[in-house]
Amino acid sequence: MPIGWRAAMTTALYGDHGFFVSGAGPAAHFRTSAHAVPVLGGALLRLLDRLDAALGRPDPLHVVDVGAGRGELLGTLARLAPPELAARLRLTAVELAARPDSLPETIGWRSDLPERVVGLLLATEWLDNVPLDVAEPGPAGWRRVLVDPGTGAESPGGPLDAAETAWLAGWWPTPPDPALPGRVEIGLPRDVAWAEAVGSLHRGLALAVDYGHLRDTRPPHGTLTGFRGGRQVHPVPDGSCDLTAHVAMDSVAAAGTARAGRPYTLVGQHTALRALGADGRRPALALASTDPAGYVRALARASTAAELTDPAGLGGHWWLLQPVGVDSGPSGWLRPESTGPTPGRPAR
Ligand SMILES: C[S@@+](CC[C@H](N)C(=O)[O-])C[C@H]1O[C@@H](n2cnc3c(N)ncnc32)[C@H](O)[C@@H]1O
Repeated sequence: MPIGWRAAMTTALYGDHGFFVSGAGPAAHFRTSAHAVPVLGGALLRLLDRLDAALGRPDPLHVVDVGAGRGELLGTLARLAPPELAARLRLTAVELAARPDSLPETIGWRSDLPERVVGLLLATEWLDNVPLDVAEPGPAGWRRVLVDPGTGAESPGGPLDAAETAWLAGWWPTPPDPALPGRVEIGLPRDVAWAEAVGSLHRGLALAVDYGHLRDTRPPHGTLTGFRGGRQVHPVPDGSCDLTAHVAMDSVAAAGTARAGRPYTLVGQHTALRALGADGRRPALALASTDPAGYVRALARASTAAELTDPAGLGGHWWLLQPVGVDSGPSGWLRPESTGPTPGRPAR
């Protein structure tokens, strides 16, 4: 029987046989920034050090990774953290999938958000997998798009509720026009999810890294799609593929700020990573003769950094930084301040 996309995504991704909770995990199907280690890990440790200083070097210092996949990023942070920091770090994955057997014991694993966290809350490519509904213009305004979970065939549903209509009016203000085949994705559940995640911080910084769009550049046909085995596929909500839609980053940011009571920073990943010292520049050739092994390592790092900062790929992701009860100081979380081209819409 056809149901709304939000319900269909919830079962297909997180139900008993859901794509993310049974199976090999996200890394087997697509590459996210969190898999480009240790370059991302090194940059995050630099950000964490700035946050740690701003918090007065608390003990413990928490890092919570929401939608942690199989714990790849936390494992990297555990490996790369300098001893003084490692002694104070408390790493926790918040993940609906089961804890992997191979995960180091020092990394905590839970399915719900902790409370009163002091430290860094990460969410890399989590929000794009938070289920949402899709709407299209009907004769009487927006109407829900229904989907058959077995086939992915769509059919028209009923009208939206008042909160959904208000969200569209504020954040995706396209008048429904039955003459145009456009469709919209109602980001309200992501705003709620992000505000809740930000609310779990007592003092610290929440960082969401994801692909997305802003109010002035919403995609006219939405972005909901599927991924399986590294390939983009037709989105069928039967548990056989990832189901993802780009994130309305400005609306999520506004929801986080309403919760945190502080302004946010929203920049492209290429800008953020360069400000944190990860760039794709090749090492000097002279290093090859004085330290051949060091040259090869530096070359590998530069190549990963280039992948992470390529505006047409992972570098097109957005970084949303949302402080709670802490100030970065006058130079900001991302030093040196720099600007870059507007992030695009990379394929996953
Ligand atoms: C695309 S994967 C990202 C994994 C990893 N962060 C990365 O960047 O590679 C999204 C992950 O979020 C998890 N997830 C989604 N909603 C969640 C929730 N409400 N609580 C905990 N985990 C969730 C999924 O199970 C999945 O492993």
